Amino acid sequence: MNPSAIPLAPRMTVIGTGYLGATHAICMAVLGFDVLGVDVDPQKIETLRSGRVPFFEPGLPEKLAEALASGRLRFTTDFDEAAEFGDIHFVCVGTPQAKDSPAADMTYVDAAFSALASRITRKALLVGKSTVPIGTAARLTGIVQEISPIGTELELAWNPEFLREGFAVKDTLHPDRLVFGVASAWAEEQLRAAFRPILDEGTPLVVADLPTAELVKVAANSFLATKISYINAMAEVCEATGADVSLLATALSYDDRIGGRFLKPGLGFGGGCLPKDIRAFKHRAEELGVGQAVSFLGEVDAINNRRRLRTVDLVRELAGGSLEGVRVAALGAAFKPNSDDVRDAPALDVARMLYLEGATVSVYDPEANENAHRLYPDLTFVDSLAEAVDRADVVALLTEWQEFRDADPDDIGALVAHRRVVDGRHALDADDYRAKGWEYRALGRPAKSGTVRLHIDVRDELATV
Ligand code: UDX
Repeated sequence: MNPSAIPLAPRMTVIGTGYLGATHAICMAVLGFDVLGVDVDPQKIETLRSGRVPFFEPGLPEKLAEALASGRLRFTTDFDEAAEFGDIHFVCVGTPQAKDSPAADMTYVDAAFSALASRITRKALLVGKSTVPIGTAARLTGIVQEISPIGTELELAWNPEFLREGFAVKDTLHPDRLVFGVASAWAEEQLRAAFRPILDEGTPLVVADLPTAELVKVAANSFLATKISYINAMAEVCEATGADVSLLATALSYDDRIGGRFLKPGLGFGGGCLPKDIRAFKHRAEELGVGQAVSFLGEVDAINNRRRLRTVDLVRELAGGSLEGVRVAALGAAFKPNSDDVRDAPALDVARMLYLEGATVSVYDPEANENAHRLYPDLTFVDSLAEAVDRADVVALLTEWQEFRDADPDDIGALVAHRRVVDGRHALDADDYRAKGWEYRALGRPAKSGTVRLHIDVRDELATV
């Protein structure tokens, strides 16, 4: 191997400037690399160039400002410029669920790899970060080496990304682990150079073959989804027996082998990753003839979807049996707090179902109203918590924003028509609400259950990086 082929600080491009790509590009520049962010959407590029992040992510605007000020981060829509600039190209475009099947839509990934491959004229590494069906890296290696002017000199690696929205900066700069899926020692050296500052912190590294690296990502997300659905399945059993799922989760969490993270019962998981990843994984496993091995993921999905229906049931019960004409304050639209992402958001789904049953729904989310309104223009969105709860017959907490946790039950109680609350995220102080005259209900909990605080892990706390 020619040592000069391994630059100490490789120049990087990041293709796709969504949640994943923008964060990766910005953080790599902050770590000291020269980075070129690339997107086919000129508006996104203009926004980033002007120092604004096109989505809500705590801490990221400050890092963008830092990166732009350093002169190490630039943005373009020009793939020729990208091909010329980069030693390593990270592909971070989306793999949404296909419109007509549970499979992942690979259009954007295929287009990005092809666009680069046809233009690159010197030895370079293409690195996939998108979540993809197993076998994609092998398939793409064939395609890019076929169309590339430099043939097999153009190599491909896979580097799955585990960042959580809301914690994107922290998870990118200080990840739990790094995984490099590589086909050669040269590719591994390139990736080691690219992640040197993070590896120097002692971050665990797993160097793997390409299919294992692809599998790590979907296996991790499937495990997390299964853990959430497990506790929510227990919530269903609790409801049939008078047991309390909050106490159950707390008791389980003290077992180190189980742990309390991702064991929070409630309205379940949503977002741009977990739901579509388990569906695509199950679909891919069936294609590979091992569908039986992961058929349980169908149950995981079904349990999760039932939580949304059950939340609507609870609101209906509290309203006296019918939702027709009932005023509901829907607190939250984002799929989780500290995000404006409404993709497959349980909160918004519940608001939509309440509306379809005839309720008058006022939705308020501190950050996601705009995105939610675009998706469901028929729903009513208001600009404050006070407006949402105004004359409400039932308040439904659907996304556990701090603003909702901090709200005083008496203050909002003074605004509502009836003091009734469904705590879809087990986030409120049940005792406090009851003491102030509220009828409080939560999924998987008996009607009279008290406040239970689940284990909090510092890694799940929002902190400035
Ligand atoms: C997830 C993975 O965590 C991350 O590693 C991967 O890279 C992308 O997918 P993200 O989609 O940002 O990240 O959200 P996450 O924090 O995992 O939450 C997913 C959903 O599960 C949310 O809707 C959340 O409300 C729900 N959840 C989470 C629960 O219902 N209970 C829990 O205990 C934890």
